[in-house]
Amino acid sequence: MRGKFITLEGIDGAGKSTHLAWLAERLKSRGVSLCITREPGGTPLGEKLRALLLDKDQPMHLETETLLMFAARREHIDKVIAPALARGESVLCDRFTDATFAYQGAGRGVSREKLVALEQWVQGDLQPDLTIIFDLPPAVGRARAGSIKSPDRFERENEAFFERVREGYLQRAQAAPERIRVVDASRGIAEVQADLAVIAEALCP
Ligand code: TMP
Repeated sequence: MRGKFITLEGIDGAGKSTHLAWLAERLKSRGVSLCITREPGGTPLGEKLRALLLDKDQPMHLETETLLMFAARREHIDKVIAPALARGESVLCDRFTDATFAYQGAGRGVSREKLVALEQWVQGDLQPDLTIIFDLPPAVGRARAGSIKSPDRFERENEAFFERVREGYLQRAQAAPERIRVVDASRGIAEVQADLAVIAEALCP
């Protein structure tokens, strides 16, 4: 299979990390050579920006937050994503620009026009081939995550924020049904994995 750019999304507590690990093993077992990475982060500079972005003691303007997300992304595309795709590898990325539309756009209120302009500037034509959104009500995610010992700058947001983020993700999915698959992550792990198995099969029959 030609290298595919696959991104995974969802609100905090959706079980994304568990599902990413499972999907990665599934794809590797089907012979896919895979570059696994994440945002914000994925490069040495990006990981430093991630630490600032998640630091609960580092307040910042909502547009500063947005610009730092895109700064990390620019570096990530240049150093990791584009080279891997050029080598023929597939890229499995834990979050990408849909997260910015959901968190900074729907969650914080940054205008869509500004996000579209930054997306175009930073990515040009690069878009994921496939995005999986793990969807569930924030209350369910929160109950599952239990009490996080030291919640980061995003994890300490309230349920109304995560309701807006969830809605933002679902609107993204509605606007790009050919790229985005919504998986009901409120179900048990086996049921979610059954959906992922079908998706993996379609990716590399
Ligand atoms: P993670 O915990 O899934 O690794 O993501 C880190 C946090 O960063 C998560 O709370 C979502 C947030 N985030 C944004 O707000 N905007 C973005 O563009 C990205 C990539 C992540």
